[in-house]
Amino acid sequence: MLQTISSLWDKSAMVKPVKVSWLVQSKRACHKKSASLGRNKEHHMKISTLSALVVVTSLAASSGALAQDVAAGKTSFNKCLACHAIGEGAKNKVGPVLNGLDGRKSGTIEGYSYSEANKNSGITWGKDVFLEYIKDPRAKIPGTKMIFAGIKNEKEANDLWAYISSFDKDGKQK
Ligand code: HEC
Repeated sequence: MLQTISSLWDKSAMVKPVKVSWLVQSKRACHKKSASLGRNKEHHMKISTLSALVVVTSLAASSGALAQDVAAGKTSFNKCLACHAIGEGAKNKVGPVLNGLDGRKSGTIEGYSYSEANKNSGITWGKDVFLEYIKDPRAKIPGTKMIFAGIKNEKEANDLWAYISSFDKDGKQK
């Protein structure tokens, strides 16, 4: 049992050094508290501290990855910025505003003059169709007036979607 715990300890130490300093502190507190208690009680407390640590670590890892994708997508969006605005107060430029794109029908931004090709493409924007489109826009919508070679790198395209889809139709970030 102790063997398992110490190997777990080592693993979490490698993954999250920051969290480990937190653990060491709690462990010290734990020792103080349990000084007058029996040895078994002390072990029990170590185990619960560790389980709590494992939960905290995995939660931090998953939400951290998402924030990273959005941040990387924001950088990639620099390639779109010349023609598209996003966020609060965004206005149509050479291309339409991209707020609330997730679930939006193609060619429906008011006050923007679309090509027939874009308007009639029948696309409802979502992750899969966006990834297909952005790889090669003129292949997905022949006749589009968006002059853009495309983003071939899948990771970059995914990050870009994480960023774009984080904006609701009012340009607020979810
Ligand atoms: C050189 C200007 C330009 C660049 C750069 C550009 N776009 Fe566009 N985009 C347009 C134009 C113009 C349209 C309208 C196309 C039409 O009506 O045929 C458009 C349309 C779109 C649409 C369809 C919107 C709708 O309402 O149906 C999406 C999605 C889109 N662009 C995403 C992007 C993304 C993401 C990038 C960056 C990776 C990007 N565009 C880069 C000019 C551009």
